[in-house]
Amino acid sequence: MTDTLEGEYRTGQIKLHDAAAFEGMRKAGRLAAECLDMLTPHVVPGVVTGHLDDLAREFILDHGALPACLGYRGYTKTVCISPNHIVCHGIPGERVLREGDIVNIDVTVIVDGWHGDTSRMYGVGPVAPRAKRLVDVTYEALERGLAAVKPGARTGDIGQAIQSYVESMRCSVVRDFCGHGLGKVFHDAPNILHFGQRGTGELLQPGMFFTIEPMVNLGKHPVKLLSDGWTAVTRDKSLSAQCEHSCGVTEEGIEVFTGSPTGQFKPPILSA
Ligand code: MF3
Ligand code: CO
Ligand code: CO
Repeated sequence: MTDTLEGEYRTGQIKLHDAAAFEGMRKAGRLAAECLDMLTPHVVPGVVTGHLDDLAREFILDHGALPACLGYRGYTKTVCISPNHIVCHGIPGERVLREGDIVNIDVTVIVDGWHGDTSRMYGVGPVAPRAKRLVDVTYEALERGLAAVKPGARTGDIGQAIQSYVESMRCSVVRDFCGHGLGKVFHDAPNILHFGQRGTGELLQPGMFFTIEPMVNLGKHPVKLLSDGWTAVTRDKSLSAQCEHSCGVTEEGIEVFTGSPTGQFKPPILSA
């Protein structure tokens, strides 16, 4: 399998990590965030998505890290780039970004065996108010999910926090993709659903590492997969947004590994 590394396997058991592992995840998470920071000034009208992928790959390799997606289950690019009604796993290529697009870029790096997985929304020039509102809702949904993380809470508390907020804003939560445990393994237990009921699911304990990565649609939640086998789009062609952090459960609550060192987790054009 491609999702094994240095003898670490997906076992189905949730791993509890030590202080050295937290240090490893800090480094990986920071580099992933720096890669997205680096891309910000390049996400402009007229840019070709394949060029953004090249920039990300060169940045990662120049920093002595590995692009986790390259070769993962047959994926041939470094990042996923998902504009407008693409929900996730858009494949970089010839597509040209246009003014008014909203676009998710998702990167995963491997540093000393540890995975840093994060994604953000970028606005390509000025964007329409309804698109900006969707992005705002998505960022707030991630924040509410992160705020639910502490020892003794359950994975369902995260899902409930996200779903209740998103639906109160008359948007919908995608059901077909979820957050995931990670560490030396890219996609590990537990699954982090972005919907659900408080008090259900796995008990959160210090040392667990996972992502939270809600996908939020302006329309209804169903998605369909395109014939390339990767690209997921909204069935109703409504706009979709996503953002993702990698985090660890601490004694006190949570440590987010993928915060932007320059404070650009929400790129400027969208944070105004
Ligand atoms: N980074 C994605 C995630 O959040 C996974 C992308 S897998 C790929 O889990 F192969 F499509 F790149
Ligand atoms: Co992820
Ligand atoms: Co990701």
